[in-house]
Amino acid sequence: MSSVIPQPVVAKLTRAAIFLVVTVKPGDQHEDAVRALCGDLSSLLRAVGFRDLEGRLSCIMGFGSDAWDRLFGKPRPIGLHPFREIKGQHHAVSTPGDILFHIRAMHMDLCFELATHIMSRIGDAVTTVDEVHGFKYFDERDLLGFVDGTENPVDEAAIDAAIIGDEDPDFVGSSYVITQKYLHDLKGWNAVPVEQQENIIGRAKLSDIEQADAAKATYAHNVLTNIEENGEQLQIVRDNMPFGDVGKGEFGTYFIGYARSPDRIEKMLVNMFVGLPPGNYDRLLDFSKAVTGTLFFVPTATFLDNVSAEGAAAQPSSLSANDQSAADVSESQRPAPDGSLGIGSLKGESANE
Ligand code: HEM
Repeated sequence: MSSVIPQPVVAKLTRAAIFLVVTVKPGDQHEDAVRALCGDLSSLLRAVGFRDLEGRLSCIMGFGSDAWDRLFGKPRPIGLHPFREIKGQHHAVSTPGDILFHIRAMHMDLCFELATHIMSRIGDAVTTVDEVHGFKYFDERDLLGFVDGTENPVDEAAIDAAIIGDEDPDFVGSSYVITQKYLHDLKGWNAVPVEQQENIIGRAKLSDIEQADAAKATYAHNVLTNIEENGEQLQIVRDNMPFGDVGKGEFGTYFIGYARSPDRIEKMLVNMFVGLPPGNYDRLLDFSKAVTGTLFFVPTATFLDNVSAEGAAAQPSSLSANDQSAADVSESQRPAPDGSLGIGSLKGESANE
């Protein structure tokens, strides 16, 4: 059976991350440079990651809809499209982004070093549209003071939530990711009584205990983001990070959510921004403004390894048999004997520490 190795979407949460979003300049030479990086990324990652194996360096490379067509053409992932803006009670903007690098490690030095090597390869070929350096805050809290990440799926549940199975046979083992950079009105938020803040999130602030379902407000964040299909909860894998610039009074949360299909994240966003029913929106948004919004496709590590500068990759259809199930992919997440892309952080890890 052919095995595809996913990118480390379900890697353990880390203390530091860089979220780097770039657009690719027009021109064949620029597209070639980006494709060349795809094939070299695993080697860069090994070189930097080996300097501190405990540091669990990982990097995910995702591609926006237009960039996919420019760089790889057909076949194209069935769910891939530009991020759709939402105009509801609040505005979820759609902003440019051809490529996302989601670089995670236990220390910022590792992230910074890898980002530097990546940009030394493609700096002339791309324009940086956004770069955020995220950090873990006390007790895994966001800057609003709530523990963020508790209900993330782990292990097989994380793989099931985030990794494409046989619903898209050409892209088994891949994923989708949506990012939004939020800026908080901390002064406004801190003026809200804690009890009301807890109703907005649906959890106790200090203990992080979830409110009883009957006690939750209909607009609670964990009610509006609870999506079900045929009685089953549709989960996503999140790795939000606080970031900020104290001197500028900037305090933010970088939202990043992986899923095997963008639909479920889009549905959560509609519930949050428009409301369920419309008008019953997420009050977090009264204090958190989305200033970016992007959607990327995350091909497998195997796909990236096989991309060359000149042209399209060896297509993943040759790597993933049509009958390959998600379970087969989960098996391929175990460390590969050849260590390809195989520094420890990349495979066989659960989403929470
Ligand atoms: C300002 C941005 C955001 C902040 C500060 C934030 C914060 C939180 C917090 C504190 C929790 C509760 C703890 C946990 O389970 O993680 C949570 C849960 C969750 N959030 Fe967010 N979030 C944000 C944006 C989003 C967005 C944009 C989505 C999806 C589109 C989302 C989806 C979820 C989901 C699915 C849960 C778990 C709900 C459950 O099953 O209990 N969040 N978030």
